Amino acid sequence: MNGIGSFITFEGIDGSGKSTQIKRLAETLKQSGRDVVLTREPGGSPGAEDIRKLVLEGDPDRWSAETEILLFTAARRDHLERTILPALAAGKIVLCDRFADSTRMYQGLSRGDLRHIVDQLHSLMIGREPDLTILIDMDPATGLARAKSRQTAEERFEDFGQGLQEQMRKGFLNLAQQFPDRFRVIDGEQDADAVASDIANAVLSGLA
Ligand code: TYD
Repeated sequence: MNGIGSFITFEGIDGSGKSTQIKRLAETLKQSGRDVVLTREPGGSPGAEDIRKLVLEGDPDRWSAETEILLFTAARRDHLERTILPALAAGKIVLCDRFADSTRMYQGLSRGDLRHIVDQLHSLMIGREPDLTILIDMDPATGLARAKSRQTAEERFEDFGQGLQEQMRKGFLNLAQQFPDRFRVIDGEQDADAVASDIANAVLSGLA
């Protein structure tokens, strides 16, 4: 593939199995001879990884919801400039664990309705949507149990609780309806092999 790469994002509630599945997809694509860049948000470039530490660790109430949106967007801008766009320009497939849809949901829904601010800032500073978004959909009770069992320092968002995760799940499904051209919804409650094969089919049918 020359010139134009493919930008593929993974979304879903905490514990939905995104991170495992995105690695499996990266392997599948590499085995079929494709040039793949696997990255994540917040993070994915040195500057954005620094911002990741700020937003995911420490006292979550030390800034307002609006400031948090600015921080996530600043991280995304750096990631886009330094990692995503150069890889796409080199004709690579970029697989990204979360992107702007996560900000639309987490910052746009969880502390009041701030979606309009998220969207305005996105069009001003990011202005790029993925070519394909894989949404791994699952019951928050399952996702939350998985997320809690991992016990990392990054507990900021995983402390949300089931009510909010339920709201996130609905929000993601609504987004999928809002952007049907780029979203594919995958049933994350199946066993991991079945999830991986659904994802591979969705992606391979979309790639040239
Ligand atoms: P991630 O590392 O994907 O965690 P998980 O594997 O548990 O899904 O994301 C870390 C957290 O950051 C996650 O709880 C969602 C949150 N987040 C936002 O709140 N806004 C954003 O824009 C992004 C990209 C992530």
